[in-house]
Amino acid sequence: MFNTNTITRFQELETPFYYYDLDVLRRTLAACKEASSKYGFHVHYAMKANFNPKVLDMIQSFGFGADCVSGNEVKAAIEHGFGKENVVFAGVGKSDKEINLALDADIFCFNAESVQELFIINDLAKAKNKTAKIAIRINPNVDAHTHHYITTGLEENKFGINTFQLNDVAETLRKCANLQFLGIHFHIGSQITDMEVYKSLCLRINEIQDWFEDHGFAVKVLNTGGGLGVDYHHPDTNGVSEFENYFKVFHDFLKVKPGQEVHFELGRALVAQSASLISRVLYVKNGIKKNFLILDAGMTELIRPMLYQAFHLIQNLSRSEAKSQDLKYDVVGPICESTDCFQKDVDLPESFRGDLIAVRTAGAYGEVMASGYNLRDRVGSIYSE
Ligand code: LLP
Repeated sequence: MFNTNTITRFQELETPFYYYDLDVLRRTLAACKEASSKYGFHVHYAMKANFNPKVLDMIQSFGFGADCVSGNEVKAAIEHGFGKENVVFAGVGKSDKEINLALDADIFCFNAESVQELFIINDLAKAKNKTAKIAIRINPNVDAHTHHYITTGLEENKFGINTFQLNDVAETLRKCANLQFLGIHFHIGSQITDMEVYKSLCLRINEIQDWFEDHGFAVKVLNTGGGLGVDYHHPDTNGVSEFENYFKVFHDFLKVKPGQEVHFELGRALVAQSASLISRVLYVKNGIKKNFLILDAGMTELIRPMLYQAFHLIQNLSRSEAKSQDLKYDVVGPICESTDCFQKDVDLPESFRGDLIAVRTAGAYGEVMASGYNLRDRVGSIYSE
């Protein structure tokens, strides 16, 4: 991914920063577009994964919709040209201000996550003399087999409405004249690589849509959420997610009735491989038990390894041709927390102060989850073109 010119360019720049390879992004978006269009599926980009303006502009240019989880994301989606008719708004705690903003913007659909929220959206819509379009986010109790922090579709999770509450939902929808029921929404978790999980989801969706139809509600939209994983171990040789297989599972197992639309909300799979966090070695500490590489980037720039024990490939860009024997390093950041460690026992060529280090596959939930802890500078971003 990094040719000599790129590395020479990095040498002149202050670190740390996110480096975006727009060509990788473009290729990924094209692959997703092609695989989803084959079946007429609608893909909304889950903006929470990365709302860098350049990234948003490119995603928008491919004709994807937007999946938002805050009023500010709804605003940004519209400002970046995602048509309001392609904006969905999810979230377990939408504030009145955010709901009003989305009502004013006439978005495509609210993904409602509780019975109480249905009443609130109805009241706010009524006050504006509007009708809010609604998909009910249902918790299907399907295990995503992913890290417990990014599992969302089990009954113990805070998201969505459990199936034992569906009678309540039906009664509420009948009462709320300012809600228009569009369909059903699901999202069971993130970084899912086992396609069997999506097959189980399809079978649950089939049962649940039958329940709605049996109770007199026409289901126009089946929104299956996102969650497709990426290969964090092989960013160069397996850089594009399994879009073909993923969409085929839904084509094969989802019971799609005439006139129904199938929607997806992909975040990570669209953007993760397009960025790396580029950092420099500040200090090398050789100990008896451990060698530490202390970088100028840490959990304030990329928190995934510390929060989810996530693996990100780490490369020394200054020593790729090194002949020296590999050493094992704990690669850590400068933050005053023991958890500020990217990875332990990483095999790297012997490394020195000033070496450039790339932390790969950082385009999703990287820059957007950066913080100002320790009063750190905001991390910058640079682009391949
Ligand atoms: N739709 C909904 C309702 C979601 O909550 C999410 C992600 C997505 C779609 C997009 O999921 P994706 O395709 O990106 O897996 N910060 C964590 C991931 C949190 C995901 C939150 N929800 C991480 O760094 O792994």
